[in-house]
Amino acid sequence: MWKTNILGSSTVMVFGEEDCRRLLKEEGSLVEVIWPDVTAELVDASSYWVGTASLNLLKGGDHLRLKKVLGDAFSEEAVEVLRPTLQECTQLFCKRWVQLGSFSAYDECKLWAWTIFGAGVLGLPATVETGRRLCGLMDDLQGGFQTAPVKLPLTPYQKAVSAREAIVQIVQKQMDAISSGKGLRGCCLANMMAQEQLTGGQVIDNVIAAAFGNASAGPTAAKAFQHLAAGPAREGVSGELRKVDDIACHHLQQLEYTNAVVREMLRITPIVPALFRRALKDFELSGRLIPKGWSVYIHTGASVQKYNQDSFQPQRWLEQGSAGSQSSTAAGREPSRSSKGRGDAHGGSGAMPNDAAAAASSLAALSSAQSGCPEHSLPFGLGPRMCLGRHIVKAALAVLVAELVSKHDWHMGDPAEQWSVFPTVRPKEGLRVSSFAEL
Ligand code: HEM
Repeated sequence: MWKTNILGSSTVMVFGEEDCRRLLKEEGSLVEVIWPDVTAELVDASSYWVGTASLNLLKGGDHLRLKKVLGDAFSEEAVEVLRPTLQECTQLFCKRWVQLGSFSAYDECKLWAWTIFGAGVLGLPATVETGRRLCGLMDDLQGGFQTAPVKLPLTPYQKAVSAREAIVQIVQKQMDAISSGKGLRGCCLANMMAQEQLTGGQVIDNVIAAAFGNASAGPTAAKAFQHLAAGPAREGVSGELRKVDDIACHHLQQLEYTNAVVREMLRITPIVPALFRRALKDFELSGRLIPKGWSVYIHTGASVQKYNQDSFQPQRWLEQGSAGSQSSTAAGREPSRSSKGRGDAHGGSGAMPNDAAAAASSLAALSSAQSGCPEHSLPFGLGPRMCLGRHIVKAALAVLVAELVSKHDWHMGDPAEQWSVFPTVRPKEGLRVSSFAEL
């Protein structure tokens, strides 16, 4: 743990697993989520991105009540109903990739993720066009997220405003179709509308919140191409899939190795490396005082933030006695708490180190003390703000891995391509696939 100053705001960087877990669980009592000030300003001005009724901006009891209702619409059971849609989208993309032959896995997986979102969440047709439209709108919306609110044509701000309006129109059209009984049953939007407690405004704002969340799905999926192109993980998945005739007949969680691959994809080069909070009061954390009002950066993937120096080993989630081991049928479930691998990365004394050198030594300590500990991989966060879309993402990634490995062969331009971390986590050259064919 160390302190710094970011844009004039006193900030504490938290890396220890115990500390990260405690802070996330004590959302609302020790810390609360913060959104960039500019966003808050825009929200107050009613010209907002996510919307005042979105989970992202609600707090306390209001947040918890809504989270519970929305949780049903995005539950594991609801996602199981969507499995044919996830498969349809993925098979569509595999056919497209065979035709393309060579492509950027990063760009294509972004499209795939938006198609899955369009079909699975909104009930739109499972087509590449759906993915392309949503992808373009969300790029525009995110492009205006932290820019000056200049309402002139073609400014990032104005493009973001237009994109938000277009997304709302799409959602409203789908809501009308659902209300008039035109199918679409099973999509998350229909599930949301079936919850009588939810108003139309709450539904719309939380579809947009979900869309912001979905931006992490494509980059995570791209890792399947990189890490499964060759090597033991591919063999492991193939071996497992050979034992089942048709994965559609099996609960995805029964595919232990495939799920371990998914968890490893979520662990390695984490797309969301830290979560941002503000201290609600003075409190003690591992013997140090965190003053009220300070920003708190919770490094949820602290032990695994060794971008480009890490190794892809799904078996770490299966090994008996390892921190990541699960019961025989639950390799795909959320990790339980473990005491393993919680090395002391805090430096021991009560004083908090105050510079980047301390950061480097904290990370070095983490690398050696915790690198083998998959438990300290919290890709979806923890506690009241844990990711709403985690079940759909895990299912979609499992379907992608199964389709890729069981029916296709591909080669990467540079299998060892590195990932950059700033300004966003992404492969440096877009992960070029040099050939992709049916087996
Ligand atoms: C690989 C893909 C994804 C990753 C790594 C991811 C990660 C996360 C993380 C770490 C949080 C916690 C944020 C915090 O504590 O401040 C979160 C929250 C959230 N995620 Fe995801 N997410 C992913 C995909 C999705 C998808 C597909 C959806 C919707 C369909 C979604 C919807 C949300 C929502 C609505 C929240 C806010 C929850 C709240 O504030 O209560 N996410 N996500």
